[in-house]
Amino acid sequence: MSSPQNPTPAIGDIAAVVVLAAGQGTRMRSRTPKVLHRLGGRSMLGHVLAAAEPLGAARTVVVVGSGREAVAEHLADVAPAALPVVQDQQLGSGHAAAVALDALGNVPGTVLILNGDAPLLRAETLTALVRSHREAGAVLTVLTAEVPDPTGLGRIVRDDVGGVRAIVEEKDAAPAQRAIREVNAGVYVGDAAAVREALTRVGSSNQQGEQYLTDVLGLLVADGARVGGHRAADAADTLGCNDQRELAERRRTMNDRVLDDLMRAGVVVIDPLTTWVDVTAEVGAEAVLQPGTQLLGATAVAGGAVVGPDTTLLDTEVGDGATVVRSHCQLAVIGPAASVGPFSYLRPGTRLARGSKVGAFVETKNVEVGEDSKVPHLSYVGDATIGEHSNIGAATVFVNYDGVAKHRTTVGDHVRIGSDTMLVAPVTVGDGAYTAAGSVITDDVPPGSMAIARARQRNVAGWVGRRRPGTPAAEAAAAAGGAPSDAAIDTRSADSTGPSTATAEDDEQQGRR
Ligand code: UD1
Ligand code: CA
Repeated sequence: MSSPQNPTPAIGDIAAVVVLAAGQGTRMRSRTPKVLHRLGGRSMLGHVLAAAEPLGAARTVVVVGSGREAVAEHLADVAPAALPVVQDQQLGSGHAAAVALDALGNVPGTVLILNGDAPLLRAETLTALVRSHREAGAVLTVLTAEVPDPTGLGRIVRDDVGGVRAIVEEKDAAPAQRAIREVNAGVYVGDAAAVREALTRVGSSNQQGEQYLTDVLGLLVADGARVGGHRAADAADTLGCNDQRELAERRRTMNDRVLDDLMRAGVVVIDPLTTWVDVTAEVGAEAVLQPGTQLLGATAVAGGAVVGPDTTLLDTEVGDGATVVRSHCQLAVIGPAASVGPFSYLRPGTRLARGSKVGAFVETKNVEVGEDSKVPHLSYVGDATIGEHSNIGAATVFVNYDGVAKHRTTVGDHVRIGSDTMLVAPVTVGDGAYTAAGSVITDDVPPGSMAIARARQRNVAGWVGRRRPGTPAAEAAAAAGGAPSDAAIDTRSADSTGPSTATAEDDEQQGRR
């Protein structure tokens, strides 16, 4: 298995990571707080935290404000060790950073401060930033990027010898500064005490009337402190995400990265444009992903498996040599060499053993299907255990719900369930037993028995000629020498209304597959 996430070794010595996530994200035009929007299997905030994680910071603080309850709740889910800190009013990124540093107290050492809306940031980029900061012996180092279109971003102003002098927000920039294409990524590493002190001097006399975190840099430069700018190796890492269009672009970029990693590791991706794989999914070498495949959440596909076309797997495991065609599966385990689809719906708790099969238009839930057993067509299988080498005939329903409670069905090994059988749970079908097609099974079937539970057929001879005279059906019947139209001959068996008794004829009539 190779995961698209390549953990970078911890470089240590980061006292705290501060994530700024209190902003409203107005341009998203959504009730969901900006940093909770999802891409590639995580929230934006989740991606940022995952990128910072390998730094091994002693403490992580997330500044929350807009939608604070939802963000704090999410944080407790994805990073329980992180501390949410409330910024009551969104007075600017500088104010947010100050609130966070206050909450940390007089923490000595190095802090990493980053925007919560840069989901493409990777651990290696942060590691390179911290290394560059250390090597330069700087008090503050900002992550920068050269971009073709710097619109809306803070510009990096450098002096004649390339030293960083200031960050100027676009709205405050002079025309010459606007032409600069090196931008602020919104990621800063610096000495905690120096940043905290400089933040006390940040004002809000700018076009947006906000306290800019970016002003800290200019203030420290004026103090004569050593300030650096580290250009990201891949500018994509630094891209923010402010509206739905940018979110879609970031999602696409993230997916491209995941697929690139997988293909480098030997995964066959037939159509990268329609294949979506979360950063949390794993795919083994030589697995084949057909067009329209989505591997979501904690999905793991073994090498040699074939998934798709048009298949969505959520938190699902697929074994070596298995195939899953045009299907939707959630929290399912598909064993090695098992076959699923086309058009199967595997719901949580489905476990398919080696070589088993779930075929067309079959829905399963909370079920174990044993080795080499098959549910080939048009069935519902819920709350059941099916043994090995058994076959469930077409259109079988495991009737698991009585309107109040769910009940289990157990089917043994080498069982043959006839087509259109209703297995009314709780019920057990013993090893080697058969059920007749069209049966409603309400009682346990002992091993080796044939269970028949259906009304006997009766043929009313001549009925069409008498009751539908002159129709094409009557003419066809007459031409075929059908029964006389003047006599009602009923071929019904004597016991047609009572329970059937098994006979040699029954064996031939049960129409099993
Ligand atoms: C910011 C930078 C800009 C940089 C860009 C990169 C400032 C002043 N500007 O601009 O130089 O190029 O990021 O994407 O920082 N936040 C709070 N509380 C607030 C205000 C903001 O927590 O009161 C958070 C936001 O949630 C966000 C981050 O700070 O995560 C940046 O704020 P945002 O408004 O997105 O700044 P930008 O205009 O994008
Ligand atoms: Ca932003």
